[in-house]
Amino acid sequence: MSGKKTGLHKGLTSYGDSGFSLFLRKAFIKGAGYTDDALDRIIVGIADTGSAYNPCHGNSAQLVEAVKRGVMLAGGLPMDFPVISLHESFASPTSMYLRNLMSMDVEEMLKALPMDAVVLIGGCDKTVPAQLMGAASAGLPAIELVTGSMLTGSHKGTRVGACTDCRRYWGQYRAEEIDAEEVSHINNQLVASVGTCSVMGTASTMACVTEALGMMLPGGATPPAVTADRIRIAEQSGAIAVEMAKNKLTPDRIMTPRAFENALRVLLAIGGSTNGIIHLTAVAGRLGIDLDLERIHALGRETPVLVDLKPSGQHYMEDLHKAGGVPALLRELRPLLHLDALTVTGRTLGEELDRGPAAFAQDVIRTRGKPIYPQGGIAVLRGNLAPRGAIIKQSAADAKLMEHEGRAVVFENLEDLAQRVDDDALDVNANDVLVLRNIGPLGAPGMPEAGYIPIPRKLARAGVKDMVRISDGRMSGTASGTIVLHVTPEAAIGGPLAYVRTGDRVRLSVANREISLLVPEAELRRREQEKPVVPPRAARGYRKLFLATVTQADRGVDFDFLRADSTDDDDPA
Ligand code: FES
Repeated sequence: MSGKKTGLHKGLTSYGDSGFSLFLRKAFIKGAGYTDDALDRIIVGIADTGSAYNPCHGNSAQLVEAVKRGVMLAGGLPMDFPVISLHESFASPTSMYLRNLMSMDVEEMLKALPMDAVVLIGGCDKTVPAQLMGAASAGLPAIELVTGSMLTGSHKGTRVGACTDCRRYWGQYRAEEIDAEEVSHINNQLVASVGTCSVMGTASTMACVTEALGMMLPGGATPPAVTADRIRIAEQSGAIAVEMAKNKLTPDRIMTPRAFENALRVLLAIGGSTNGIIHLTAVAGRLGIDLDLERIHALGRETPVLVDLKPSGQHYMEDLHKAGGVPALLRELRPLLHLDALTVTGRTLGEELDRGPAAFAQDVIRTRGKPIYPQGGIAVLRGNLAPRGAIIKQSAADAKLMEHEGRAVVFENLEDLAQRVDDDALDVNANDVLVLRNIGPLGAPGMPEAGYIPIPRKLARAGVKDMVRISDGRMSGTASGTIVLHVTPEAAIGGPLAYVRTGDRVRLSVANREISLLVPEAELRRREQEKPVVPPRAARGYRKLFLATVTQADRGVDFDFLRADSTDDDDPA
């Protein structure tokens, strides 16, 4: 009874007698009423991220039920189990600080619990990357199922949705264009149902790129959370997971360098979140694949933005779904894709596209001849301010500011920003460049989405809508503006951003891919020697681990020891 290495026989608990280990395991699980017939089936784990603290996953119970149905229809045994759940607004200091912890939870549970394949139920921004990272490291057949987007609401006849409109209306409130009563009414309308943000933020971006990566069922990215389509995708994901277990379709066979290029193409074509680059870099790193910023830039030059969704465009996720979803976009991008990349179905991307529905008239996914934006949404910048790179979401930036030189107004950290940005005495004008440092991976810590530096209140009141803003932090995928992010290396470890002073001149040229501090090198060295940076450290706990091992944005902000090229010999077989 102990010769099999599948199902309940996998990863036996160590008692020094494998026969006894299995005997004991079966005795306990039978306490829940299972029969030997059930326990002899292929086991599909279901990683459940349902949590009262995560309304983006508020349909999780329904999805688990549908996945179970799919697994059983295909002859398998479903076993759901909890893993860490992260919601953007319920994770302090920031969900990114906890992404790697969640990925470790997923990896270790997939290794520790007996299962032959797993359905990963994710959705809110960091959950999908954490699950892909963990699954890549665990090496178990895995399929991603997202919870799906929320519905849109309405304010004075205008459709609204989280969270581009959250920022837009809050900006109007700060500028005193709307009052407290109106902004409170809008607060009720922005999130009209459970599900993930309804624009092309990080959750939607990760859903779309995961489908392009081949780790999700075709058509699985876009059905909204409360629809029948979403439940059907869940059932089908359960059934496919059984097939993946039979065929030992492990993540390394799907997530190849060519699959990551397909994912990046889609990230660029949807005007996706800048966070997507960091997450894909981290997932690829778990498989020993380096995503090079230069290659990303080259892909960007030849990949137009085709999807007309906020914040780059006009529509919402439910519209993208009605327009045919990711399969319709992939059909349009077909000449740019690696069609031989394998997907969770066991078929290649090209075969899936051949099976897909025919094109129909719609106004959400443009043709390559009529793009929203001629180049990819994200440009990679370099210069003496960012020797290892920085990025800007050019599709969401003000075209007039993309070639700009101005005076730096420096904020030391988030507290300094909070104290001074709305002070009427702040010496700032619309042509200045706002610089915020110490919000990188180690700086805050956890690289919070604070790169969307607010326009100083006195300028907002005067009608200023956008300014060049630079930081070593991230920005929500739902935000927009002429915002340079992910400056690497970060200030907290002595990157050049640490030595910028208010009054220095800064030059941004998206055309030349340049972000420069117009200060002589010798002066920067002098400032460095005058006040050298001491990287932050912590005495104990997760923070100690985080600060000692987290990598920079160009390595995905993963822990250095979790990359595939790190030594890992604890596989429990
Ligand atoms: Fe969860 Fe936006 S807060 S997807």
